Amino acid sequence: MSALRSVVLGTGGYLPDRILSNDDLAAMVDTSDDWIVARTGIRQRHIAAEGQLTSDLATHAARAALRAAGIQADQVDLIILATTTPDQTFPATATAVQAKLGVPGGAAFDVQAVCSGFLFALACADSMLKTGLFRTALVIGAETFTRLLDWSDRGTCVLFGDGAGAVVLQAQTAEQAGDRGILAHHIRTDGTKSGLLHVDGGVSSTGTIGHVRMQGNQVFRHAVTNIASAVTAVMQETGITAADIDWFVPHQANQRILDGVARKLKLDEAKVITTVATHGNTSAASIPLALSTAVGDGRIKPGDLVLSEAMGGGFSWGATLLRL
Ligand code: UT7
Repeated sequence: MSALRSVVLGTGGYLPDRILSNDDLAAMVDTSDDWIVARTGIRQRHIAAEGQLTSDLATHAARAALRAAGIQADQVDLIILATTTPDQTFPATATAVQAKLGVPGGAAFDVQAVCSGFLFALACADSMLKTGLFRTALVIGAETFTRLLDWSDRGTCVLFGDGAGAVVLQAQTAEQAGDRGILAHHIRTDGTKSGLLHVDGGVSSTGTIGHVRMQGNQVFRHAVTNIASAVTAVMQETGITAADIDWFVPHQANQRILDGVARKLKLDEAKVITTVATHGNTSAASIPLALSTAVGDGRIKPGDLVLSEAMGGGFSWGATLLRL
């Protein structure tokens, strides 16, 4: 049998209805629309409705991805959900999605790598599809991240939003896939930096959920360096250069980070997909949301070479190169 490759068959996204503007936040903490736009590029973010769970957001996005792929739920045999904001401590939120979609079997589990979670989940799914362990995977990033926020901390509460994005991946032979599919991954972590971006609670420490704490300017400094090193690694592995990339779909944390990375890597600004202005930072959901936005509006087309990157708590970071 020829080598298998994981091919993206469809993408989908979901954003909750409620929008929180910068002016809304300025009524809650000492901040302003001008400051938030100048320092982050964010203008608004979506907030999950009361009672709306991460698995609800994930299921909406997954259904959209399945529709786009022309795949029925009963063909899915693997669900990997990247999230930092699970419905419950256990079971895995992916199993709630499995039940809501009516996926009859296979395996479903969560991956926790905060804002890099989607790329970590993609790497897991790709490895499992390529070895023939599973055939058709849903890889989802979904967050109700605003439930981790301290709404009195202006350094963090203006940055994040809720949402979900998903892709359907299928194992295909080289003959079926042609030049499509996931071409390279690079995922890394550095646990010694965890104190710079973390949640000050947890099951085995405080017994509480806790709130996001971040030394933003220090995270910022590491972000551009780590992202650039991950992108350089996938470029070296594949022999691809910045000029070959059709679309750059980065994690959406801060417009200034996106600009800094694009500059450092000499990527054409017109090829950068940015959703941070309207979505804020949706953590693990941001990459699949940005991808589905740009596929949905016709910018990213089948056959395009797409480079993605992320950096988040852990620290965790990574890059993925795929041909849609
Ligand atoms: O996705 C996970 C990875 N996360 C990130 O990549 C986030 C990375 N960090 C950032 O995006 C930026 O560091 C922030 C947007 C969080 C902050 O921007 P900054 O330019 O690094 O500002 P700063 O933290 O150095 O703070 C500058 C000033 C401070 O005031 P003083 O000490 O100079 O008087 C802050 O207290 O800005 C103040 N400040 C604010 N002012 C108005 C911090 N937050 C706000 C706010 N509104 N919301």
